Amino acid sequence: MKVRFVCSGAASLGIALAALIALTACGSSDKGTSSNTPLAGGTASTTGSGSSSKAAVDINPKTGKQIVMGFSQVGQESGWRAANTDSIKSEAEKRGIKLEFSDAGEKEQNQIAAIKTFIAEGVDIIAFSPKETTGWLQVLQEAKKAGIPVIESDRRADVPDDLYETFIGSDFVAEGRRAAEWLATKTGGKAVIAELTGSVGSAPANDRANGFRDVLQKNPNMKIAVSLTGDFHRTNGKEVMEAILKGPTGSQITALFAHNDDMAIGAIQAIKEAGKKPGKDIIIVSIDGIKDALQALKDGELNYCVECNPLLGPRIMDAADAVLAGKSLPKRTVVEDLAFDQAGAIKALPDRKY
Ligand code: AHR
Repeated sequence: MKVRFVCSGAASLGIALAALIALTACGSSDKGTSSNTPLAGGTASTTGSGSSSKAAVDINPKTGKQIVMGFSQVGQESGWRAANTDSIKSEAEKRGIKLEFSDAGEKEQNQIAAIKTFIAEGVDIIAFSPKETTGWLQVLQEAKKAGIPVIESDRRADVPDDLYETFIGSDFVAEGRRAAEWLATKTGGKAVIAELTGSVGSAPANDRANGFRDVLQKNPNMKIAVSLTGDFHRTNGKEVMEAILKGPTGSQITALFAHNDDMAIGAIQAIKEAGKKPGKDIIIVSIDGIKDALQALKDGELNYCVECNPLLGPRIMDAADAVLAGKSLPKRTVVEDLAFDQAGAIKALPDRKY
């Protein structure tokens, strides 16, 4: 329906102006501009439309405007990543943080380009999960020069401490150790292991491999016979495991360590197709704790799963609020993880969200 103002004379002009002011006021409160009163912690409520539902808008205390966060995500390589993305998007929406979300399609150069765009746009804060540990110095120096604080989430970037506010994520070395400790107990310290590693150069691949090997050093009869990357993908996990089973050490493999659940699930398929029983002929341990893995544990095809908690959205947004309120944060916030055996998976499955 079109609204027409017919102005003839001073009275009509006054009514038209009042209507225009009212419309303008609605528009500004929808955008969370200065008509909102910030609450403690930087959150404001808007009542722009006059309806009973109130939209929360998270205000940057320095600008008095809605917080804009640029987030650069690695890609969509795994179930873990999907849950991580959902957590970030839904938490930003819940709080009224405007999220400029960029999916890099697993290419680090796309992440760097996205961060440069965030800097050019002048977002309030940047958060990102670095694909690999190296290559970030220059772009983070640019962010610092522009006065835009940076939060590292999930994976660390190897840069000096002054280039980021805090790094929020799991302890990947501890995850690798935990996987190996369980395997050592399960096998009595004797295993011929195939390892499916994560993306080359990524913090989880490097750290999980190192943590796992720490424990193997104390268990001389546990040997890694073959170690190949499956790039955190389910399809690659299957293909690489097929190749391993057909390879020179294939018939000797008694255990599999997969750096994530998706690769383990792909490998389970390959093991079955090779005529072996996953979980029995080959003992399998993986990392993440996605629903599919808990189901595989329940089915007896996966033996142990170390959790890597992807639900980082609330912590990232808390950190953004704190940084923009001028608070300093610890450089490292370690996210606590669980671990699941079959009984634990059966218990956890009904409530597992991802
Ligand atoms: O960085 C976390 C890792 O990235 C997860 O364990 C893996 O599934 C994901 O792709």
